[in-house]
Amino acid sequence: MRVLSGIQPTGRFHWGNYFGAIRQYIDLQDEHDGYYFIANLHALTTIRDPEQLRSLTLDAALDLLALGLDPAKAILFVQSDVPEVSQLTWILMTCTNMGLLERCHAYKEKKERGITADAGLFTYPVLMSADILAYDANWVPVGQDQVQHIEVCRDIANSFNHHFSEAFVLPEARLLSDAAKVPGTDGEKMSKSYDNTIGLFEDEKASRKKIMRIQTDSRPMEDPKEPEGDHLFQLYQLMADEAEIQEMADTYRRGGFGYGHVKKALAEVAERYFAEARERRQRLASDPDTLRDILADGARRARLKAAEVLDRVEQACGIAAPAVAAK
Ligand code: ADP
Ligand code: TRP
Repeated sequence: MRVLSGIQPTGRFHWGNYFGAIRQYIDLQDEHDGYYFIANLHALTTIRDPEQLRSLTLDAALDLLALGLDPAKAILFVQSDVPEVSQLTWILMTCTNMGLLERCHAYKEKKERGITADAGLFTYPVLMSADILAYDANWVPVGQDQVQHIEVCRDIANSFNHHFSEAFVLPEARLLSDAAKVPGTDGEKMSKSYDNTIGLFEDEKASRKKIMRIQTDSRPMEDPKEPEGDHLFQLYQLMADEAEIQEMADTYRRGGFGYGHVKKALAEVAERYFAEARERRQRLASDPDTLRDILADGARRARLKAAEVLDRVEQACGIAAPAVAAK
């Protein structure tokens, strides 16, 4: 199966991104043909600072490699390095019903809040469809918020296949595990929009500070507590081993402990959990040539596939010039 997923470089990655998405799609690289990219063209709908977009794009690539994405197993590339995708976007646009895009939530929400949206935000799902269709992807691992976009993609592909010939492979959304709704420092879902994140590679001192400030309830220390549903415990569970989890659960049920104790333990398991990735990231960051080579090779391999699909699509709809088509 060909598995494809993209992630926007709109901020530095946090625990939520890792456990909720990145870890799960990196795991798929062993069994499947993986295409993973950094969606910098999509990020352009929110980031207007060129230096920031450039550095977040490279940071995202470094982060993914440090976290275990292996270029020998999967293709890692930057979205804009494959111009075929933008060409395909236009063709898809001509098969996209306006009503379909008007119903998409990112656009709808902005409009309802009275914010004027640009055409980039409105047509965002068409570019995302091109991202998927350009590589004949079968599976797209995404969070719940992106499922609608995969439906749009299937709709557009169906519309093209119906008007012309069966040029597109229909992709399926693979819902990322819901168990990984990672809570932030305020107990709500961790998200860069809520300013409650703990960054994957931020300075250890800074993240320790954030961990020590995680909001907790004010029940007396002596009270026994149920570990299930407690957000500190939830975070601890993501990074501790089985025996540690069991022991912590017993501590909760016994009572007579302070949350400071749990926070310290959480900081320790988090540092241990990400130690190897942190080291790998440091090594990669000090060798920009290697990163450049990996991304160039990823783009080259992705383009080979995208060019093949674009050619098929252009033939199907009559875009290829007859002289070229006749070759
Ligand atoms: P943010 O909410 O910080 O803006 P994004 O929307 O860019 O993050 O999310 C990128 C990916 O990470 C998506 O697949 C999303 O489902 C996943 N993700 C983000 N935050 C969390 C979280 N707290 N728990 C689980 N998954 C998350
Ligand atoms: N829109 C996705 C997000 O915000 C990122 C993305 C862009 C993507 N193109 C994609 C995800 C193609 C899967 C497939 O998370």
